[in-house]
Amino acid sequence: MLLLAIETSCDETAAAVVQDGRKIISSVISSQIAIHAAYGGVVPEIASRAHLQSVAPVINQALQEAGIGMDALEGIAVTRGPGLSGALLVGFSAAKAISFARKIPFVGVHHIEGHLFAPFLEQPVAFPFLALVVSGGHTHLYHVEGFGRYTTLGRTIDDAAGEAYDKCAKIMGMPYPGGHIIDRMAQNGNPDAIRFPRPLLRDGSLNFSFSGLKTAVMQHVMKNPVSIPSQAGDDLCASFQDAVCHVLASKTEAAIMQTGATRLVVAGGVACNSGLRLRMSKLCMQLGVELSIPNPDLCGDNAAMLAVPGDYYLSHGIVSPQSLDVTATWDMDSLTAPRPEVRGFPIR
Ligand code: KG4
Ligand code: ZN
Repeated sequence: MLLLAIETSCDETAAAVVQDGRKIISSVISSQIAIHAAYGGVVPEIASRAHLQSVAPVINQALQEAGIGMDALEGIAVTRGPGLSGALLVGFSAAKAISFARKIPFVGVHHIEGHLFAPFLEQPVAFPFLALVVSGGHTHLYHVEGFGRYTTLGRTIDDAAGEAYDKCAKIMGMPYPGGHIIDRMAQNGNPDAIRFPRPLLRDGSLNFSFSGLKTAVMQHVMKNPVSIPSQAGDDLCASFQDAVCHVLASKTEAAIMQTGATRLVVAGGVACNSGLRLRMSKLCMQLGVELSIPNPDLCGDNAAMLAVPGDYYLSHGIVSPQSLDVTATWDMDSLTAPRPEVRGFPIR
């Protein structure tokens, strides 16, 4: 099935054409980072307006790069949530309009479901698997039994890992989003220079907490102002990164032990992080666990990833009705319950 996928949940307007939920024919991502940088974070109203301006050109470019017209499309996968309501509405309305005008089905997909299945665009992973999703809004451990069958094993009780990176980058005077800058500087720093707290490391749960770490970084910077670039800055970044990655890896190891998982997927924007990739590779090698982390260009927000679950749902007759709305908050575990979508729509 040839699908158009559309993503507008936060600050990237993205569209892709994907064959059979596996082969990317084209993928276009228009980032709003430069627009939001001046405000130190994503401004929801500005994000919605920017999506409105770019959604049609981005879709057209994806079709053009795929060398097809809309008449070749057989279905649409679009992010339904979670995310910024106004931003989600833009992509969701575009999907509904194309679905209605072209008489092709569409399905609303959970944004994190997209991240989870991004590795499938390179090499499908056998079920069941354990997944660590680390992004700007999520830090979750899931047990994945199949498409739409997710159990949350642990989650952040406050900030997400990406949020902690971006907030600490801001404290250090870096532009938004600073996650990748901390990562780059950390590679030249000493991870043992400052001993930052490892929150919830030994609480016995699979939950995460990063707000205390952020406070510790702020207190350190207030007492020891750093200029960037500098060796002290590199050491600060390396020490912060070590604390984050240590906690992420330890909780993932505990989840592997608890579930007996033999496969691990690490996905989401923070999965680009060099320290995390290295630590997860070492961990999986030690435990004999098969590790799948997508290439960095598939870790961050993109539309192609949505086509993986989208293709599965549409080809199994799960189609969203025109009356369906976006949802700013959406629990992954709720997808296991019967969905409001129409079942039995004959597509194949
Ligand atoms: O998945 P994503 O693109 O968007 C959300 O769904 O949130 O993730 C964005 C997050 C941002 O917080 C960004 O700073 C972080 O991923 N990020 C990184 C790196 N690259 C992106 N964090 C740490 N190291 C990186 N190399
Ligand atoms: Zn994302």
